[in-house]
Amino acid sequence: MTPPLNGRARRSLPALAGVIALAVTGCARTSTGPAGTAAADTGKVTVACGATEEWCAAMAEGFATATGVKAEFVRLSSGEALTRIQAGRANAEFDVWHGGPADGYAAASDQGLLEDYVSPNAAAIPDRYKDRTGAWTGVYVGVLGFCNNTKVLGEKGVTAPGSWQGLLNPALKQNVGIAHPSTSGTAYTALWTQVLLNGGDKDGALAYMRKLHPNVLQYSKSGAAPAQQVARGEIGVGVVFSHDCVATREQGFTDLEVTFPAEGTGYEVGGVALVKGAHNPVSAKKYIDWALTAAAQEIGPSVKSYQAPTNPGAKKSDKTVDLTTLKLVEYDSVAAGAVKSVLTRRFDTEVAQAPKD
Ligand code: F6P
Repeated sequence: MTPPLNGRARRSLPALAGVIALAVTGCARTSTGPAGTAAADTGKVTVACGATEEWCAAMAEGFATATGVKAEFVRLSSGEALTRIQAGRANAEFDVWHGGPADGYAAASDQGLLEDYVSPNAAAIPDRYKDRTGAWTGVYVGVLGFCNNTKVLGEKGVTAPGSWQGLLNPALKQNVGIAHPSTSGTAYTALWTQVLLNGGDKDGALAYMRKLHPNVLQYSKSGAAPAQQVARGEIGVGVVFSHDCVATREQGFTDLEVTFPAEGTGYEVGGVALVKGAHNPVSAKKYIDWALTAAAQEIGPSVKSYQAPTNPGAKKSDKTVDLTTLKLVEYDSVAAGAVKSVLTRRFDTEVAQAPKD
């Protein structure tokens, strides 16, 4: 494996003391205290959370238990989180962004939306999983794969695709699910993977996506949604992070099987970062410090989140894929983040419009 390059629903938990509930579509906070100062810290933290609802809730609970600091979160796909953080530029809605691929964080940092913070606990995280100046630090690694419904594919007489080229098989017409890269970090990872497999050629990547288009039944907003569609038998294959397929299989959908593309596959480094102008910077830094600990990173498997931890001291689940067994592309989150808005806009106009809701 080539190591990754370094570069630079709001949900309530009524039963959990220390975790605050907010409405799903909660709007920007109204606190007018001096942003970014310790004096403004209200002793709670609001998180834009980019992984599953269950993971986000478990993290909020784990943080509150470990530190006594209250936590609240909104589950947002990567593109949505970036849009909300942009919207809060003058009055930050969130203190921390946690989860979701680092290329979104790199894009946010380029736009001056994140505050560099090198946590003392970041020392334990390998350099390839963190930004050099502390714009973001990696908390997990996830790998793209194909989530196949072997029953659906069997009925069509199609074998599970084992390559990006195989995914273009006309027999899979309207039988593939993938999210939209404007909203989903998973889908943007797939798009950037195509750029890399085309030697850095963005036109080549978009040409591949246009070839795939007739096979795509629907572009979902969230990256993990195609795994659910595959489980329900609505489609034969989903392009998702493999851990989302494994988690869905665990819900009892035993026809699901993961394959990885032979040409090479892309991966995410899920991040954590301090939002610029955070109203609760002291609590936010506490949260980031905690998120980098082995204990925090061991929570994932308890809620069926099987990404690989970035902290080498964290125990790995036996359901976590062994990254060293896979052919990975050289994913540079900073390079991917730098062109994210341009490339997703091109996807909107040259391949398919982003889903409305
Ligand atoms: O479902 C969990 C997960 O796959 C994370 O590993 C990843 O960071 C995130 O979802 C990406 O979500 P989306 O594609 O919706 O931005």
